[in-house]
Order: sequence, then structure tokens, then C-alpha cells
Amino acid sequence: MAEKSLQEQHIPVMRDRVIEMFAPALNVSDPLLIDGTLGLAGHTESLLKEFPNLKIIGIDRDPIAIERAKERLGELASRVEFVNETYDQIEKVLAGRKVNAVLLDLGVSSIQLDEANRGFSYAYDAPLDMRMNANDSLTAADILNSYDVKDLTYILGTYGEEKFAKRIAQELVKRRSNKSWTTTFELVELIKDVIPAPARRTGGNPAKRTFQALRIAVNNELQILEKAIPQAMAALMVGGRILVLSYHSLEDRIVKNAFKEQSSVIDALPGLPVLLSKKKAPFELVNKKAEQASDSEISSNPRSTSVRLRVAQRVEVAA
Ligand SMILES: C[S@@+](CC[C@H](N)C(=O)[O-])C[C@H]1O[C@@H](n2cnc3c(N)ncnc32)[C@H](O)[C@@H]1O
Repeated sequence: MAEKSLQEQHIPVMRDRVIEMFAPALNVSDPLLIDGTLGLAGHTESLLKEFPNLKIIGIDRDPIAIERAKERLGELASRVEFVNETYDQIEKVLAGRKVNAVLLDLGVSSIQLDEANRGFSYAYDAPLDMRMNANDSLTAADILNSYDVKDLTYILGTYGEEKFAKRIAQELVKRRSNKSWTTTFELVELIKDVIPAPARRTGGNPAKRTFQALRIAVNNELQILEKAIPQAMAALMVGGRILVLSYHSLEDRIVKNAFKEQSSVIDALPGLPVLLSKKKAPFELVNKKAEQASDSEISSNPRSTSVRLRVAQRVEVAA
């Protein structure tokens, strides 16, 4: 059987809805979009094909993702400015330019999970690394070998929503006094030992939550997102749209709160009658509630199971 191309293998999450949501902002002359999470350039490729005048600034913190994106895009790459940075550097990258759209498709990409030696996956035995950029200093092993029980419990419980966070944290600290944590399979074994058998039989691989939590902590994902959203919104011109695909309730909460803050009327002159004192907010929510993937998308692409899509649009505000 012929091998499938990258394009056939990798369909970006909620692709059609993303295109539809961006259409009002991108059907203008010479539109510019920032894809802050370029990854395998699945969304970027679809958007470049759909909007022939579109140019994209494609940011990714992972240099390997940038190389793979260039390969995938082929000739379309001539319409993309590639930037190896974290997306909280949007302001610096734009250097005063305004854009029509910003896309953030958060989290880890399928190539990062599939590259066995990077330590993102509990399915491969590898060093406990999990850095999205090998130039960053903190690895998953550093966290496991140096954080105390309280901090480990917080990471596993909050970022991984792991019910047995404290028990796992206690065992991690106890066992490292004999031998430092070095490989993914050692961690998988410990989780299997610690989580009681009935709890292990439900909810997929019991290591999944711990691996997700460590990845979020290693890459400082939530703090970077919190810094990035206001910058991304500030970069939009009137009519411009920001669309975020989140996969974790804490990510979605950061996005929801930032959108809400900028779309609520501002009490500019407190004390005056409502009509005089209220200033129109700079953003409107395009969808009031986060959207989810359809059942058929979820069955063909399990990665879309937990996705939440939110969109906001900059509106004209009288001076
Ligand atoms: C889910 S993937 C994006 C997939 C992409 N939309 C596609 O269709 O191919 C997320 C990407 O964002 C990158 N990433 C995660 N956090 C980042 C950050 N703070 N700054 C820049 N890139 C980041 C990851 O390296 C990964 O390549």
C-alpha cells in the first residue's frame, strides 16, 4: 500500500471551523495572521490554501517543528515568516506591525509525542526530558529529582488532575534517595505500583495524567499563555480575530478570563449616569460558549476529544 503523505496523515483539529471563524477577518486585501503554534503547519497550510493573499508569521518554540513545517509547506512556505520563539514574544516579533488574526492551537504536537527520544510519551522508553526546545534548561528529570513532595503534589494534582498526586509524589521522593529518576519507563512502573488496581482499570493509561502534568511544568505552559494572550489581542487591528484551541481546563480558563476582561464594558467615568460613564469594550466574543469537536471528528481524531475553541474580535471603539 502507498505510504500516506504528511498532509493525509495529519488533519488539524477543527480545521473547517477554524477557516470559517477566520473568514470575516481574512477576506480583506493582504491579510496577515500569526500562527503562534505552527507545529506541523496543518492549520497554516489549510489557511494559506483557503486565502490566496494571506501571509502568515509562523511561531514555534520547537526548532524541529519549524523544520518539519517548512518541509510540509513546500512552495507555500514563501508566504510564511518562520520564527523560533515562544508565543509570549509576539510583541517583539511584530515590532509594531498589526495583524488581522491570531491562532493558538495549544499543547503538544503529534510529532513531539511520536519522537520516542524526547520523553513526552509514556509509550516509549526514553530519557525524562519533555523540553519543547532542547536549549531550555529544565527537564522532567530535574523536576522529579529536585522538587519536594508539596511542589510535586501541586504539579501532578493541578496540571494532571491526578487523584493520587500526593501518593505518587511521596513515592517519587522516597525512591530517588536510592537512585535518581532517569527514564520514562521507570516512572511508568512507579505509577503502576502506586495507583490502586481498580483505579488503574478505568480512564486509559494511568501514566497519562502524570506525563501531561510534567510536560506543562517543564515548558512553563500556563504562565507563558497568560502572558501571551494580552499581547496577541493588542496586536489585532479592528475587525481582527483571535482564535484559541485549548485542551486543558486550566488553559481554557486563562483564555476565557482574558477574553471576558477585554469584552466587558469599562466603567470609564465612575459616578456619572450609565450612558455617559460606560466605555465600549475593545473586544466582542464571537462565540459566547466554547465550542467542541463533533462526534465524527472525535472518532476519527482522538486528539480533538478535549478541545475547546474560543474566538474574540476587536471592534471599533470611539476615542
Ligand atoms: C498542537 S501543536 C500545533 C499543531 C498545528 N496547529 C498544526 O496544525 O500542525 C502545538 C505546537 O505549539 C508549540 N508550542 C507549544 N507551546 C508553545 C509556546 N509557548 N510558544 C511557541 N510554540 C509553542 C509546540 O512546540 C507544538 O509544535
